[in-house]
Amino acid sequence: MAGRFITLEGGEGAGKTTQTRLLKNYFEERGFEVVVTREPGGVPEAEKIRNLLVQRDGGNWTPMAECLLFFAARQMHVETLIKPAMAAGKIVICDRFTDSTVAYQGYGHGFDLDVIRQVEVLTLNGFKPDITFLLDLSVKDGIGRSLKHNSGAVGAENTEDRFERLDLSFHERLRDGFLTIAREDPTRVKIIDAMQSPETVFETMVSYL
Ligand code: TYD
Repeated sequence: MAGRFITLEGGEGAGKTTQTRLLKNYFEERGFEVVVTREPGGVPEAEKIRNLLVQRDGGNWTPMAECLLFFAARQMHVETLIKPAMAAGKIVICDRFTDSTVAYQGYGHGFDLDVIRQVEVLTLNGFKPDITFLLDLSVKDGIGRSLKHNSGAVGAENTEDRFERLDLSFHERLRDGFLTIAREDPTRVKIIDAMQSPETVFETMVSYL
């Protein structure tokens, strides 16, 4: 039996972690084996690339190099973890995937969307999630939640915060980008109002499964 590949997308503070946990429980209670993973990362080689991309001292990459690194990590992740797990009938739940590259590098940072799509074709050859939940909330609400969340972190030195220290207009472009992606592919990408209670967000997601 073929498994399923489910991704969660959205800006900062949208609640992807909580919803991933709820989805995992949901499938496990129904007898499925579940693999929870994330991008960039998910397998050791891709986690090494993650460090180059998200840490403060990870490197000052050109937009093209950055795009290629995200897809290099993704190709390893798909071939060595996601596809084998699906072939074994497992449910794969992934925190971010190609939509994040289109939204962050493309809409957010202005890197050429056509080039991103070409690299996607070259590296993934049409491989896409079966379903994607876009946890959508306003920039103000997202940053508010994200700050609250991070104030609980150990020390002020969060080395993974490179992407979170970007300006408000970036976050607006990011949100609009995700919404555009969802509108262009409504069969796959479901927009979920992330300001609802976690229970309601979860029930809405389940209604699409
Ligand atoms: P992640 O750990 O998922 O952070 P968050 O807590 O915001 O979900 O992802 C790390 C950062 O990498 C995040 O700010 C988004 C960014 N990113 C991209 O810019 N492009 C991509 O293709 C991916 C997968 C992530």
